[in-house]
Amino acid sequence: MGLETSASYEFVRSQSEVSACHPYVRPLIMKAYRFNDASYVKNPDQRLAHTYEPEQLVSVEALDRLGVKYWSIPIQGWEPKIDAIAAERAYKNRDLINVTKEGLGELYESKIKSFFEEHLHEDEEIRYILDGSGYFDVRDFQTDSWIRIGVVPGDLLVLPAGIYHRFTLDHTNAIKALRLFQDEPKWIPYNRSPETDRNPFRQEYAKSVSIAV
Ligand SMILES: [Fe+2]
Repeated sequence: MGLETSASYEFVRSQSEVSACHPYVRPLIMKAYRFNDASYVKNPDQRLAHTYEPEQLVSVEALDRLGVKYWSIPIQGWEPKIDAIAAERAYKNRDLINVTKEGLGELYESKIKSFFEEHLHEDEEIRYILDGSGYFDVRDFQTDSWIRIGVVPGDLLVLPAGIYHRFTLDHTNAIKALRLFQDEPKWIPYNRSPETDRNPFRQEYAKSVSIAV
């Protein structure tokens, strides 16, 4: 397959489209659902799925309303497709992050804990998953509850500037992801506090989400 036109990268609109006709469908794709806080309190292992019983799935449209963008791009031949999306959305820089026990050594546990601190950035957080898996948790703006997004290879996820979120590995304990940046990497995580509620990027985000709802 040659290089696709940008029209081929249309945003995946719904779970049914994902499973039925999207050109980049894979059998295993991102799954978003309501995070079960009570389950986490009972067993505070952040790597567990912590679903409700039955699961409360969250649609791609609901994520879109929170400003969270999702694409499914198969690993096979991913590079020109990611290049096209990067060009279209003006992502100029990129690097590779490999989070494993072996890679991080003694820092592993502390790093995993710090990724799981609720925070925001003043820039988009863009990840294309190349290997392994993990969970991005994002706050539902309306209810302030967590939505857990399970990502696997081929998932491209964009979290908007100003959204409260956190990340954890899952039971596989490994993830390899491409990080894309609009400009130079600005990776300051601002942990949630009354001060971050007043951050202009948070306020801008709050305004955009309120309009979208
Ligand atoms: Fe982050």
